[in-house]
Amino acid sequence: MQIDLNAKIAIVTGGARGIGRDIVRILAHEGVTTVAIDINRADLDELGVELSDGGFQSAQFAGDVRDFARLRAIVADVVSRYGRVDILVNNAGVTATASIEELTEEQWDFAHDVNLKGTFLMSKAVIPVMKKQGWGRIINASSFAAIVPTVNHAAYASSKAAVAHFTRALAGELGPYNVTVNAYAPGMVPTEMNGFTERPAAEQSRLLDTLTLRRWGSKDDIGNLICFLASDRAGYITGTLIDVSGGKFATQIPRAAYDDAAGAGDYEF
Ligand SMILES: NC(=O)c1ccc[n+]([C@@H]2O[C@H](COP(=O)([O-])OP(=O)(O)OC[C@H]3O[C@@H](n4cnc5c(N)ncnc54)[C@H](O)[C@@H]3O)[C@@H](O)[C@H]2O)c1
Repeated sequence: MQIDLNAKIAIVTGGARGIGRDIVRILAHEGVTTVAIDINRADLDELGVELSDGGFQSAQFAGDVRDFARLRAIVADVVSRYGRVDILVNNAGVTATASIEELTEEQWDFAHDVNLKGTFLMSKAVIPVMKKQGWGRIINASSFAAIVPTVNHAAYASSKAAVAHFTRALAGELGPYNVTVNAYAPGMVPTEMNGFTERPAAEQSRLLDTLTLRRWGSKDDIGNLICFLASDRAGYITGTLIDVSGGKFATQIPRAAYDDAAGAGDYEF
């Protein structure tokens, strides 16, 4: 199956590092003109040099997804440069780690403001453009935590569950304009946000034991899904939350199958 994204224009929030940066890279390799928005100016500049050295069309904008005036100005700039916005990936996100008892209001607001309100505001900024075009793809970073929350991450989990529901609401409104809206739920992709591969070996092993495909997610695992969802091939998919977690908790003890395969299984259920 060929996926043709050539000459599309994509905005990726939080595109300066982590999964967002790799989404920008993979889209660029598919012929997409990428626009990265991030609060991190230094990483954005580095990305700009990398993309221009590689001969890719791109632009980078410093901006905070909580600042609607700034987002609207960036979208106006993108439309004046390129004439359209075909794809929006609402990737920017933050965590907040504390038990509910210890969680501060500031942490709660921060997680919801960036993860949920940022997705709302960025979408709001591109909706008029996509409606006018009669074509668009909005793809939102949710999380496996939206399905099964992690202890001590209540604000993160609830904001990401809300992103999945917001996705359905927006899909409903934009269906008549041929704009699809989907969310994806990564499980565990090592990045600076989580430092999975920096943790002690025993802890890494315990985390991997939760996965049916017992390996860390790669940024390309996410990027490949984004390319598909952004393409015409996915034109009949909207309002979904796609699990791209390697089968996290697809069964109760995924590790049991690995022990069985190694001849070491001793599980009784
Ligand atoms: N890494 C994982 O395993 C995983 C799992 C589930 C969901 N996710 C989601 O995927 C997305 C990317 O995660 P990551 O691991 O690459 O994180 P990361 O921290 O490595 O990167 C996040 C990027 O977002 C930017 N950002 C943060 N706040 C912003 C704001 N207010 N405005 C604009 N940009 C902002 C950061 O500067 C950074 O470049 C997040 O939404 C995250 O919740 C990641």
